[in-house]
Amino acid sequence: MGKTLKVISLILFSAFFLVGVSDNADARKKKIPKKPKYVGSAKCNGSCHDPYYQAWVNSPHGKTYNILKPGERADAKKRDKLDPDKDYTTDPQCLRCHTTGYRQSGGFKPAGSKSKKSGKDISTKIDPEEPSKEQVGCEMCHSAAGGGQFRVVMKNSKGDFKKEETEKYGQRWDYENVCTRCHSHPKSPHGKSKIDYAKDKAVLHPIDKYFTEDNADQNIVKDGKVKDRAKEKAKSEEKGLRIEDWNIKKGKLKFAKGTRPYSSKKKKFYYKK
Ligand code: HEC
Ligand code: HEC
Ligand code: HEC
Repeated sequence: MGKTLKVISLILFSAFFLVGVSDNADARKKKIPKKPKYVGSAKCNGSCHDPYYQAWVNSPHGKTYNILKPGERADAKKRDKLDPDKDYTTDPQCLRCHTTGYRQSGGFKPAGSKSKKSGKDISTKIDPEEPSKEQVGCEMCHSAAGGGQFRVVMKNSKGDFKKEETEKYGQRWDYENVCTRCHSHPKSPHGKSKIDYAKDKAVLHPIDKYFTEDNADQNIVKDGKVKDRAKEKAKSEEKGLRIEDWNIKKGKLKFAKGTRPYSSKKKKFYYKK
């Protein structure tokens, strides 16, 4: 009898132990937030995409807010009939294409933004050492409505995910199409832009020189993940998501009806016709 009891308790103990361990593993997996939301480029930095972040900081898209300041690029502003001495850093006519997620959930809020309820200052904090939502960040090219949700999928899978798994949370793969969210957009004060995607994509991610011993484990080009994903065809890639248009009414940017690529209420994506 004593022996049977021992065996039984050993079995029970192992069962509890195993359940305990797998519970812990699940606990480490983060829950996906209910709604999409812009989180900013700084959240992609660090343990996941350090070289991509650093390359971005030093690329034109990592500096798009700065050129809205008075005195910056005076000649270009004059050429486009803009006032070189004006501060455009809070101007709704500029922020959609020069910052991240402006007028969308979690997106950039310019200086002077106040909460409707409490009247408190809710403007985006800018850290000059770590560019984020105030520039054209990762999410302006990689997401339809912010990266808050698919970032958790990426983390939980340690970067080992299929395109469709993050696409259902708003990651977009229509790279060539997404440039037209800003370049050559009908609301651009700069007119037509000479973007040649095949050539110009070189400006986006010159990551090679940013790999060090510390972040070598983040090399998704070398470990084959980028190549594997290139073999998949995402839905957004086939059709291209709709590109937002907008109007400025009473000093506020309002998206034009029927031009948003995603409705978080209906959880539905909209493609180009
Ligand atoms: C529809 C998107 C869009 C809007 C709106 C927009 N920009 Fe731009 N801006 C761009 C893009 C894209 C570029 C890169 C050049 C190009 O492709 O036209 C750019 C470039 C610039 C440049 C550099 C130009 C150069 O040749 O060096 C300045 C300065 C600038 N923008 C200021 C502004 C200001 C000020 C406003 C608001 C009055 C504004 N932009 C509104 C998209 C936009
Ligand atoms: C202006 C647009 C743009 C911005 C901003 C941008 N990216 Fe990208 N990204 C692209 C395009 C286009 C590609 C695919 C082409 C390429 O790799 O050159 C890409 C590819 C990638 C890939 C490889 C994806 C895969 O699995 O195939 C990663 C990772 C990535 N970007 C991360 C980032 C991060 C992190 C940021 C911000 C720090 C960022 N990107 C900002 C346009 C952008
Ligand atoms: C959210 C708006 C936005 C999106 C989306 C965007 N860009 Fe830009 N891009 C800008 C702005 C603003 C600048 C101006 C930066 C400067 O002049 O310093 C710029 C500058 C550039 C430049 C250098 C200046 C030039 O006109 O030659 C290139 C090249 C470029 N973008 C390529 C791309 C490509 C390729 C994509 C798509 C994969 C893309 N961009 C998507 C806003 C955007």
